[in-house]
Amino acid sequence: MIFYAVSGGIKQLLLLRILFFHYCAYWRKWKLRFFINIDHMNLSLDGHIVIVTGGASGIGEMICKVLSAEGAIPCIIDRNKEAGIRVVNEIAAAGGQAHFAPADLTDATACQNAVQDVITKFGCINGLVNNAGLNDGVSLTKGTYDLFVNSLKTNVVHYYMMAHFALPALIQTKGAIVNISSKVAETGQGNTSGYAASNGIRNEMVESWALELNTYGIRVNAVIVAECMTPQYEWWINQDDDPQQRLNEINSRIPLENRMTTTKEIADMVTFLLSGKAAGINGELLHIDGGYVHLDRRLR
Ligand SMILES: NC(=O)c1ccc[n+]([C@@H]2O[C@H](COP(=O)([O-])OP(=O)(O)OC[C@H]3O[C@@H](n4cnc5c(N)ncnc54)[C@H](O)[C@@H]3O)[C@@H](O)[C@H]2O)c1
Repeated sequence: MIFYAVSGGIKQLLLLRILFFHYCAYWRKWKLRFFINIDHMNLSLDGHIVIVTGGASGIGEMICKVLSAEGAIPCIIDRNKEAGIRVVNEIAAAGGQAHFAPADLTDATACQNAVQDVITKFGCINGLVNNAGLNDGVSLTKGTYDLFVNSLKTNVVHYYMMAHFALPALIQTKGAIVNISSKVAETGQGNTSGYAASNGIRNEMVESWALELNTYGIRVNAVIVAECMTPQYEWWINQDDDPQQRLNEINSRIPLENRMTTTKEIADMVTFLLSGKAAGINGELLHIDGGYVHLDRRLR
């Protein structure tokens, strides 16, 4: 009799606990949707630990916020401490959880320490988004050996290093990798040799890693960005004599609605690719650009 009463009580407690956690998860997602205006895709990413390099601004920041709205815990690796702390606080204020490990990714040891920091804190890594970079305009005519090599370090050497250091943890979880890349690798831009070469490598490493990591069940894809308004893009366009006219000209060349891709559209695709719902997508370069790369030539 006593046994049945105790086991019934335990069952009720367990049921209450489950209901409580469901309520918390629902409330957290609702808050995230309401306070940072992010809808929810139901990608089953609850508690997933995802490293996002350059997560303190622009595209990376939005990736962190969308991941958080899906229940994941984004781990920002960025050299901008103030911005990194701001993003973590904004996510926390909206009911999510995020982590920030400051690091200058041009330093390989800093990459290793940042990965270790995440493993020490959370014990696992479910996903890696390589995103940090800068279109630094190292041209052929005005560049030097040091400027060119520094551009590769700024834009692509850390993509390799982060994947290299995170790999043992990703193998444990059958995690996924997404490389953010640029249309510049395919269309060119001129006057930015280091950045263009880096994006070519970002793309090529996707195929190479996807083949190498097949046996571990790790998927690797790239999201190719063309024109997306971010602090970096704003800075770049403001170098022009007439930024507004330049912007109008660029928009007019984007087939879908003559508008730029939003950071949210990029972040949604990255988050989807990190989830099990994208289980069949591997080794792909996905252009989230309103048809800019593949359609604009046909429009002329
Ligand atoms: N915005 C676009 O239109 C566009 C187009 C094509 C590709 N991209 C790519 O998207 C990525 C993100 O660009 P964004 O426009 O969001 O830029 P952004 O400048 O707004 O954000 C980049 C973030 O990366 C961080 N970062 C850069 N170098 C770093 C380093 N060495 N160590 C640590 N942190 C570093 C910066 O501090 C910043 O927080 C870049 O790799 C860029 O090549 C952007």
